[in-house]
Amino acid sequence: MEGARGSLFRTRLKCDVRNGVALFYFEAILIQNHSHTKLFMPNHTSVVIFGGSGDLTKRKLIPALYSLAARGMTDKTFSIIGFARTKKSDDAFRNDLTKAIHEFKKDVNDAVWQSLLKNIHYVSGGYGDAAAHQALHQKIAEINGVAAEEVNTLYYLSTPPEEFQNIIEQLGAIYNRANRREDVYRRIIIEKPFGYDLASAVHLNDILATYFRERDIFRIDHYLGKETVQNVLVFRFANAIFEPLWNSRFIDNIQITVAEDIGVGSRAAYYDKSGALRDMIENHILQVLSYVTMEAPIALTADAVRDEKVKLLRSVKIYTPEQANGNSVRAQYSGGVVDGENVKGYREEDESVKDSQTETYVLLKLEIDNWRWFGVPVYVRTGKRMTKRATEISVAFKASPSVLFNAGADQTLEENVIAIRVQPNEGISLLIDAKVPGGTATEIKSVQMDYRYKENFQRDTPEAYERLLHDAMTGDPALFIRRDESETAWHIVEPFLTAWQQPEAPLYTYPAGTWGPNEADELIHRDNRHWHRV
Ligand code: BG6
Repeated sequence: MEGARGSLFRTRLKCDVRNGVALFYFEAILIQNHSHTKLFMPNHTSVVIFGGSGDLTKRKLIPALYSLAARGMTDKTFSIIGFARTKKSDDAFRNDLTKAIHEFKKDVNDAVWQSLLKNIHYVSGGYGDAAAHQALHQKIAEINGVAAEEVNTLYYLSTPPEEFQNIIEQLGAIYNRANRREDVYRRIIIEKPFGYDLASAVHLNDILATYFRERDIFRIDHYLGKETVQNVLVFRFANAIFEPLWNSRFIDNIQITVAEDIGVGSRAAYYDKSGALRDMIENHILQVLSYVTMEAPIALTADAVRDEKVKLLRSVKIYTPEQANGNSVRAQYSGGVVDGENVKGYREEDESVKDSQTETYVLLKLEIDNWRWFGVPVYVRTGKRMTKRATEISVAFKASPSVLFNAGADQTLEENVIAIRVQPNEGISLLIDAKVPGGTATEIKSVQMDYRYKENFQRDTPEAYERLLHDAMTGDPALFIRRDESETAWHIVEPFLTAWQQPEAPLYTYPAGTWGPNEADELIHRDNRHWHRV
């Protein structure tokens, strides 16, 4: 049945049968330029999590989906299907998740959880097994009471990366791209690591492009889901006072630190193949860097923002392997004390890594070869088992002329710094020099002007995964990585990977609980600069 509603809308009464119950709903279609863009999707949406019994599912994905349900942002008929190799019944899977939700989420509303739980299912099988994928396809149809082709489906790949290709090809075999229905979505979210190097990232992108349209591919980087990272663009482009200063004329250097106090724990098998460069810099840190240094986009659309990010990443100087060696420090933690507790060194974490040459700390000095940033070094560093957990961006301004307050040998002025605290103690500080009250001589001290999230907005910020899952379900890719972005980022880190493969490439050590190896301090001191307070 169809009815007209003005010239822009057409509504259609539709009926689906679910578990023997008829569901009627109106579907509104926007008619524009002879093309049809659906405003309201039919009720059926299934999220399929490959790697359903894994850690990420329990810690992040299920809590995020629960929060969306609790905030009324999912339909009643929304369902979740875990897919993994381990054999398990729906009930056993539900029990595992019930334990996990109470462990990883505070104040769980039992009514919301129970109603979500009814719509959680499980399918077991090999990721490359055609029969298991057929069973999944049938399960989607069965749960929703309509053909699987009519269900909006979001596939979440949270498996080891070796399985990505198998899964994508199986999904490709089931759904014929040519017969795709424009009014039903089939999207795919891919967890990191997205490739192991440039060649493997290109290969993965090619496989994806064979079966999915770019607009249906969501390469996830959870740092983009963080409120404080999104706020970098607001800080820069909503406040007219900073942007005129945001360039090489006024800025001396930029530092991005992602310090973690945790070690690799039970993830040694994954981590040892990856290392800090692939695990943190290729993705999270380069994403943050592009927000801090890109030009203003012409609009806030996904492509306008990502165009600027790619343009910035393309301006990062590609080093030769020799230059990469001279502009980097990599190191591994040895035993030490973190938070008053004795902790093991990296090589003692697991028998399999006892001779490991994998870095758990990296410092890179990068250069951005464009008109805005020419000559401004960007120091990025990350490490496990450092003194504390702190992610901070600091932008240091050039010194003022020495003629007045820092003319004497007894007075040195601290540089002005804008420090953006991504986590914890989320906020932004501006370090300025101020006169110490009293006295006859002018004594100057650095003081801090502060914006703190907690004090200004008394509300919990949503978890990164909550925002990102929501955006993928509504089809907004702005906070996801586009193909060209992922490949450009690999291009930047490749010379470091090449340089570090050489047997003579140094791998330093640092005791757990410190700020990293001495060699990292030496690199920055060589430039007559120092680390800002984190
Ligand atoms: C992940 C890395 O992507 O990010 C981990 O694989 C790391 O090694 C984590 O611990 C850090 O994320 P967050 O949100 O705790 O800073």
